[in-house]
Amino acid sequence: MSAHSAETIEHASNALDAPAKLELSGVGKEFRTKRASTHALSDINLTIRDGEFVSLIGRSGCGKTTLLRTLAGLVSPTTGEILIEGRSLWNGSKVDSSVVSKLGVVFQEANLFPWYTVADNISLPLRLRGDGKQDRRARADELAELVGLKGFENSYPRELSGGMRQRVAIARALSIRPKLLLMDEPFGALDALTRERMNLELQRIALATKATVVFVTHDITEAVFLGDRVVHLTPRPGRIRQIRSIGFERPRSIDVQTEPEFGAIVRDLRHALDEEE
Ligand SMILES: Nc1ncnc2c1ncn2[C@@H]1O[C@H](COP(=O)(O)OP(=O)(O)OP(=O)(O)O)[C@@H](O)[C@H]1O
Ligand SMILES: [Mg+2]
Repeated sequence: MSAHSAETIEHASNALDAPAKLELSGVGKEFRTKRASTHALSDINLTIRDGEFVSLIGRSGCGKTTLLRTLAGLVSPTTGEILIEGRSLWNGSKVDSSVVSKLGVVFQEANLFPWYTVADNISLPLRLRGDGKQDRRARADELAELVGLKGFENSYPRELSGGMRQRVAIARALSIRPKLLLMDEPFGALDALTRERMNLELQRIALATKATVVFVTHDITEAVFLGDRVVHLTPRPGRIRQIRSIGFERPRSIDVQTEPEFGAIVRDLRHALDEEE
């Protein structure tokens, strides 16, 4: 395995007694506009343990992004409660900004600033919170190495490939050492091979940083490969249909995908998704 595997031994994901990082109870969301009302989420109950990697799958429009945005403090839930380390994220439609400032969020688009270098993009959250220049540079260099971008610190986004840009976005999300990393289809725009490589990178990063990760994807193989658990949301309104525990040891190599058990889980989930219109 890679030289990084030594860092991974103490990974907490399989420790069922690890404390809860994230608790959702009765979470629902209704979007009301003048023309229509959309019941996007209903009665979501889920506890995610410290260090756990949870994949979220479901058909288009089932509420995955909405759920992630409520966790990120961007969309207030209509009902229910979200606790992060036991602390309430929402107070009505008001978000606890001290909780949100500790989250790392990565969306489908890297959303980098084209006029900033890789290092400056990575360390932007540190600048926003007032860290000094030297600290920012040191952390940016460290993160560039972590995501495999050593040597590109002074490059500009236009000089990078899509996969590299996405790694900058991941490094930026990690800059504040988030306790919780929220990712919405971060690799959706990448080709299959780059995506596979990014899956391995993300697993390595999650193990090395012991981060808790909520990862939205429509790719079932990716969900099973990365997840300690896979949560399947069913649409209109988005509800949890099933939760699958994925027991393969970590770090997982891509070869795990050829194991019969892996194939069986993917097939099962695909059938369940296919049953939905
Ligand atoms: N800001 C909004 N205002 C009104 N309706 C919204 C809003 N955001 C999402 N919705 C509705 O909520 C439902 C869930 O949308 P969401 O984006 O969460 O789905 P998704 O599972 O992320 O889909 P996809 O896989 O296509 O990204 C959809 O019916 C959508 O139209
Ligand atoms: Mg979405």
